[in-house]
Amino acid sequence: MARVKALVAGNWKMNGLKASKKELTALAKKLGKEKPGCDVLICPPATLIATLKDAAKGTKIAIGGQDCHAKESGAHTGDVSAEMLKDAGASYVIVGHSERRADHGETDADVKAKAEAAHRAGLVAIVCVGETEAQRDAGETLKIIKGQLKGSLPAGATAKTTVIAYEPVWAIGTGRTPTADDVAKVHAAIRKALDARFGAEGAKMRILYGGSVKPSNAAELMAVPNVNGALVGGASLKAEDFWGIVSAYA
Ligand code: G3H
Repeated sequence: MARVKALVAGNWKMNGLKASKKELTALAKKLGKEKPGCDVLICPPATLIATLKDAAKGTKIAIGGQDCHAKESGAHTGDVSAEMLKDAGASYVIVGHSERRADHGETDADVKAKAEAAHRAGLVAIVCVGETEAQRDAGETLKIIKGQLKGSLPAGATAKTTVIAYEPVWAIGTGRTPTADDVAKVHAAIRKALDARFGAEGAKMRILYGGSVKPSNAAELMAVPNVNGALVGGASLKAEDFWGIVSAYA
């Protein structure tokens, strides 16, 4: 199988004002000079998508959303559709992040409907899965991940339209990460499930690892088989830190 090009995605979560454009500009300068061997994506709050898209002009930095509604438009106060994200300049959208699943009660079926909406709008869906600490302690990690993949991925997902992000919930923002062996086991199980369901497309689908990725552990995580990039939270907020991660994938 041809080597899958890595994707390093920064999820700014609910952080960033117009002034944060300077972080993207600093990152763009680094990227322009050093040309990393991976794709680079920033997912700012929806309010900044157009601003950052503009700041990223002439660079290879892609811009994405952090969530979308399953419908194209309608009476859904406060929600943003995949079409709107696309219209603002996004080419990706994260769906099913554990913070959405926990804070907004999103189910696998909701996540699947959002991924389908993303695909209809021409966005790449980054579908997140991950076990809680209690599920991990109960030895249920693989069962949970397989169930989330089965329920959250649309039938027609392809390597071009869909990226998987494995994020153990207990590793998000905690500074704790699974061992390389544990990451390898989960990513191998994800790959197997993707192969079984999507065949050749599943073999090419990118599987990102997320949860306390930082410059000091990025290279070790990237070396794990079936890890095709990273979904980075806290360390994506400062260009210097994010660059430290991106450059590990060069
Ligand atoms: O989407 C990103 C993840 O939730 C990881 O966040 O890098 O701050 O642990 P973190």
